[in-house]
Amino acid sequence: MDNFNFHVTTDIRFGKDRLAELPEVMNQFGKNVLLVYGGGSIKKIGLYDKVMEQLTANGNRVFELAGVEPNPRVETVRKGVEICRKENIDVLLAVGGGSTIDCAKVVAAATLYEGDAWDMVLQRRKLNGPALPLVTILTLAATGSEMNSGAVISNLSTNQKLGVGSPSMLPKVSFLDPTNTFSVNKYQTAAGSADIFSHLIENYFKRTEGTDVQDSVSEGLMRSVIKNCPLALKYPEDYDARANLMWASTLALNGLTGNGKTGSWSCHPIEHELSAFYDITHGVGLAILTPRWMEYALNDETVAKFAQFAWNVWDVEEKVPMMAARIGIQKTYDYFKACDIPMTLPEVGINEEKFAIMAQQAVDHNAIKTAAYVPMDVKDVEGILEACLTESSFV
Ligand code: NZQ
Ligand code: ZN
Repeated sequence: MDNFNFHVTTDIRFGKDRLAELPEVMNQFGKNVLLVYGGGSIKKIGLYDKVMEQLTANGNRVFELAGVEPNPRVETVRKGVEICRKENIDVLLAVGGGSTIDCAKVVAAATLYEGDAWDMVLQRRKLNGPALPLVTILTLAATGSEMNSGAVISNLSTNQKLGVGSPSMLPKVSFLDPTNTFSVNKYQTAAGSADIFSHLIENYFKRTEGTDVQDSVSEGLMRSVIKNCPLALKYPEDYDARANLMWASTLALNGLTGNGKTGSWSCHPIEHELSAFYDITHGVGLAILTPRWMEYALNDETVAKFAQFAWNVWDVEEKVPMMAARIGIQKTYDYFKACDIPMTLPEVGINEEKFAIMAQQAVDHNAIKTAAYVPMDVKDVEGILEACLTESSFV
């Protein structure tokens, strides 16, 4: 296991009926609030009114950045920065899914950055400046953005979707009320669960040895997702199913399963290119890519880990490691399919036309050529994308 710091200070307020705590939370940071939200789901579920009621009664001055897109755009970030500077915003309140929270994070940092927001994003993980404080109310279990310091922003004019992160962007407080996710439709529930699963997979398949704790936690969280996503799809108001997905989302990407391991992720760098060029749903892209990436990564050196995954996550009974590994990959594929996720790229409107440029950018924007679990060059990425053109079988 490698050395690591684990200092994730987000104050998590988990559970239902806790919105009355909002004034006390906001008062820690100031009166001028920028409320950030997406395309209107929070109004449909009545959450907007409840939040406004609390803020108004508390005497907050509330400004709004509405309409944050799934795969949030830098143009929206710029709008938020303008409001923050003009209205002397003290604290941001993001109410929504990962896109809304990510947008708010980058607004919070870019407001205190001298240059343009996109120049700031281009600094990626090296960013280390200050940010305005951020409070979040999560409405979709998926990204883990509620308890991490990263954000992903898109610039569709340059076909770039890039991750950026700074310790100052970590939310100060996050409200995780599973009832706020009852209204998430089947497609987004399945996509969000695939995203959680993928975060666990990305951290699980790293080259660092001796990480039993991280790997066991990951296996347990994967099993929880496998159990609870189908329940949430069938019974959208099953509180415990939603609660388990929500908490799994948070723990999958707050450092718990990834710290102590080094190396680049494999599927996210490729998915971000699919989203950058075709604006598809992040979790769906990951579900399509993951089993094909697994097949690419399975070899004599990695078979032991893939067999462990098959045995511990999928309860595969086959004893021969290579065969067990293949069955594990098949089960992963079948599971996503059973959640009604489209499992080929043509089903989400993508053909081979831009494979070469997307593969090139995936390699250029990330360290997958040197530091991925199994290193990938442009041709390898293209091969994985080609395997996503049709239905697959792994055994
Ligand atoms: O915009 P609204 O109207 O709110 O609707 C959203 C959106 O259409 C809807 N939704 C959210 N909560 C709902 C709801 N609909 C009904 N009821 C609710 N309670 O769901 C749709 C998708 O929302 P979005 O926020 O885009 O989804 P998600 O949470 O999956 O976030 C995806 C974004 O996060 C990035 C992705 O790349 C993508 O841009 N990621 C962020 C990460 C991070 N910050 O750590 C890591 C991830 O790997 C990921 O890359
Ligand atoms: Zn993700």
